[in-house]
Amino acid sequence: MENAFLIFLNGFCQLFLRKKEMKKFGIIILFLLIFSACGGNERVSREVFDEVNRSMEAKKLSEAQILQAAMEWGEEISTEAQQQLIGALQAAIGEKGFAGAVDFCHVNALPILKEVDEKHGVKIKRASLNYRNPLDKPDDTEEVILDAYQYNVEEGIPADPNIQKIEGGEVYLYTKAIMIPNALCLNCHGAKDSDIAPDTWKVLEEKYPNDQAINHKIGDLRGMWSIRIPKRAVVNRM
Ligand code: HEC
Repeated sequence: MENAFLIFLNGFCQLFLRKKEMKKFGIIILFLLIFSACGGNERVSREVFDEVNRSMEAKKLSEAQILQAAMEWGEEISTEAQQQLIGALQAAIGEKGFAGAVDFCHVNALPILKEVDEKHGVKIKRASLNYRNPLDKPDDTEEVILDAYQYNVEEGIPADPNIQKIEGGEVYLYTKAIMIPNALCLNCHGAKDSDIAPDTWKVLEEKYPNDQAINHKIGDLRGMWSIRIPKRAVVNRM
């Protein structure tokens, strides 16, 4: 069972060569939100299903092509989100030092991701088995994928990006492992006495009393990007 999953995970290792033009589909998402807020969930879901099928036929798209496009888009979005976060983190460290940057991340990490969410009409999360922010706790599906990444990392197998269908096939869940690439991360995710300075530790303790995101070493799995991409949005931009 576990092996089958790992093969599945590795099977989706892809190279992302093509960059595509982004189309705007905020209006469609808004439309969806309004309808789902009105409580007509099932009917809308059926309508969405039919509409996606119609545009798939019109554009002559196969399931495999859409899956591939979702994978490529997930890669683009996760790269963009990562650049936004790293850029903000480095600026905060430069300005306020590590302790000040913890405070900055506490306030700004999730809002920065929300901006990327809204831009693309997807749902981005960083999930971790040993999370710092309780909002980054994995759900059941995410936990299974994180376990597989953890296994791969421990066994020295590449932890490749993964994509799978959820919510009856209407949504793709794209995931990508987040590793600890260098010593910068250890200033806030390493060992208390050797890596994390006392003033940084003080802020971490205060803001995250149940912090589990410490004692990492370079090369560890820190968590993963988890991006929920509506199939409809993928088809619309193809
Ligand atoms: C200045 C301290 C600091 C540094 C340096 C830092 N982080 Fe973090 N990290 C945080 C804080 C604070 C949070 C919680 C943010 C929040 O509340 O949303 C966090 C959260 C995360 C999360 C989300 C999962 C969780 O545990 O909540 C990941 C993934 C992560 N960091 C990876 C990294 C990586 C990789 C590096 C190195 C490139 C890094 N961090 C460097 C402070 C830091």
